[in-house]
Amino acid sequence: MSKHRVLVIGCGAMGGSLVRGWVNTGAQDFDFEIVTPTPRTDFHLLQHQSVSTYKGHPDIIIFAVKPQILDKIIKDYMPVISPDTTIVSVAAGKTIDFFTKHFPKNKIVRAMPNLPVSVNQGVTLLTMAGNTARHSVVETLFSQVGSCFWVSEKSFDSLTALTGSGPAYIYLLTEILGKIITMQDIDKTEAIDMAKALVSGSAELMRHSIKSPEELRQAVTSPKGVTAAALSVLMPDMQKLFDKAISDAAKRSKELSK
Ligand SMILES: NC(=O)c1ccc[n+]([C@@H]2O[C@H](COP(=O)([O-])OP(=O)(O)OC[C@H]3O[C@@H](n4cnc5c(N)ncnc54)[C@H](OP(=O)(O)O)[C@@H]3O)[C@@H](O)[C@H]2O)c1
Repeated sequence: MSKHRVLVIGCGAMGGSLVRGWVNTGAQDFDFEIVTPTPRTDFHLLQHQSVSTYKGHPDIIIFAVKPQILDKIIKDYMPVISPDTTIVSVAAGKTIDFFTKHFPKNKIVRAMPNLPVSVNQGVTLLTMAGNTARHSVVETLFSQVGSCFWVSEKSFDSLTALTGSGPAYIYLLTEILGKIITMQDIDKTEAIDMAKALVSGSAELMRHSIKSPEELRQAVTSPKGVTAAALSVLMPDMQKLFDKAISDAAKRSKELSK
């Protein structure tokens, strides 16, 4: 069986992380080429500074540019997109309708990966028109770099605010813990290392444990103990704060789609 030709447009934080993840796994059933105005020296893949040098038609084209750039460049891709090309967009807020207007005959998949795809531990949301539609090749492709979840387009913006942006929340928590550790007269680099080890160790335990996050939290919390004292401060406000944060982020994702 011949390999699926994949063309990735944009190789910044997200496009670059995806390509990094696919290069790591080998992704044997796929052949990758990238379009990147600034050449990448860290990938040994066929690169194009613009689409004009690309030959033939890809089986899958992945748009990983900023939504505003997408508006400007989408028409340039008409010559390389055949009716058999599946169009995948990772651009926040760009709806399936936006692509259908330009490419009415094509299969369109909206994907929302997150940056841990670069270490093959990503979470990718996938959606197609019609709530039950699935695209097995696109699912195989994104499964190489982590876990995939098919969701409805209706839920996509709220879930994007959770999974696409989610790594930022975990990094913020690590940053805050690092600052607190620094106040204990510990060197800044060591404090950050300690905070990173704390967060990644806790995440690793959660990944391997059959216990729920709630049960794991309870296992660390003795009644009236040290952890309980901290949680009594955090728990009343944290849920409210996150509810508001995710709702504001989902609104922003909707605004970007206009
Ligand atoms: N960052 C995330 O965590 C994340 C998560 C989920 C989804 N996304 C989505 O991913 C998309 C890209 O975001 P990003 O964070 O990766 O942005 P980014 O780091 O700014 O990367 C955008 C890339 O697009 C390239 N580019 C600009 N004009 C181009 C053109 N005409 N043709 C081809 N490539 C072009 C840029 O190349 P030059 O640098 O050479 O100009 C840059 O490498 C966005 O739509 C965003 O919503 C991002």
